[in-house]
Amino acid sequence: MSNQKFIPLSVPNISGNEWKYVKDCLDTGWISSVGSYVTKFEEEVAKYVGAKYGIAAVNGTAAIHICLKLIGVGLNDYVIMPNITFVATANAIKYTGADPILIDADPDDWQMDLELLENFLQNETAFDGEGHLIHKKDRRKIKAILPVHVQGNIGNMDHLMEIANKYHLPIIEDSAEALGSTYKGQHAGTFGLMGCLSFNGNKIISTGGGGIILTSDDKLAQRAKHITTTAKTNSLEYHHDEVGFNYRLVNVLAAIGVAQMEGLDKFIARKKEIGAFYRENLNGVADIRFQQIRPDVSFNNWLFTIQTKHQKKLISELNAQNIVCRPFWMPMYKLPMYSNCIYVSKQDNCDYIHKTCMAIPCSTSILDEELEIVTSQIKKIVA
Ligand SMILES: Cc1ncc(COP(=O)(O)O)c(C=O)c1O
Repeated sequence: MSNQKFIPLSVPNISGNEWKYVKDCLDTGWISSVGSYVTKFEEEVAKYVGAKYGIAAVNGTAAIHICLKLIGVGLNDYVIMPNITFVATANAIKYTGADPILIDADPDDWQMDLELLENFLQNETAFDGEGHLIHKKDRRKIKAILPVHVQGNIGNMDHLMEIANKYHLPIIEDSAEALGSTYKGQHAGTFGLMGCLSFNGNKIISTGGGGIILTSDDKLAQRAKHITTTAKTNSLEYHHDEVGFNYRLVNVLAAIGVAQMEGLDKFIARKKEIGAFYRENLNGVADIRFQQIRPDVSFNNWLFTIQTKHQKKLISELNAQNIVCRPFWMPMYKLPMYSNCIYVSKQDNCDYIHKTCMAIPCSTSILDEELEIVTSQIKKIVA
């Protein structure tokens, strides 16, 4: 058993008005799915990222599910997404009855490889007589691209939007990890028709569990709110006009969210300091590499991740010393429910990223001396 003090990976920072606002909900009885904090939270997040609307949801997965549903993704359709992401991206597609088409990652910035995406669309798809993009082999419709801003980083959005426009594919952004990241000054989650954020426990702000749909489209916003609140048209008479979902974030969690939003700039600033510290202090150590960030991206440094062939050894030895580290996600095609999906790849960069990348402690509350401990232990282990 190690004497080293426990250093968590990425935990929520509850140091502002969270208690006060939650107490307000408890004192007034407004704890459930109606309440002023839900609206305030939606408005604050939307304003922060520059979207016209935010529609709060129970979690990021539900938010993605709703977006896909609202643009008409359904049984036997395809949605294009990166092969390396958290499983929720693929699950949300499956909930609609559609199947993912998986695209390999760029080896440097770990985002969806746009060259592969373009080649696939050019060679494997066609427009049918009614103007729908279909996969040539099985004639199933391709309905959308669901890019993920992997680790909060952003790829070449100009190029992605160009491809999407050329093939008439709507973009729904899985920006779950990218709150506060921008590309050419524009926030993640605001490039596509809709974007989704997650506020689960390890995200840059957390409501315990929660998510939000971002959009600037009036109709989609109204539809999103309707369908996430059981498609109710008249609550007195229990009238609902379609199969809705009980996906609304509750007021007591939104209250935490409002307090967390007050700390967001501070959290991002600290994440950036942590990222800069690791980049400086681990640079040149063994074969350690970092995720490549474009000069036109302002990166929120959400979950600091290094790449090294010593990944396995580092993970087991650091965890044994109470320094929590995690490997990168398993590529989707390695999971049983997605193993038969179309996977567009030349050399399976995702597998390499999975086997070499690992996240290291980067909570906004981490102390400078803990950052020193993490780096010195990493140096010792790989020396
Ligand atoms: C890339 C990505 N997509 C989707 C999600 C799902 O969000 P949630 O856990 O809030 O459902 C997460 C986070 O967990 C994520 O990291």
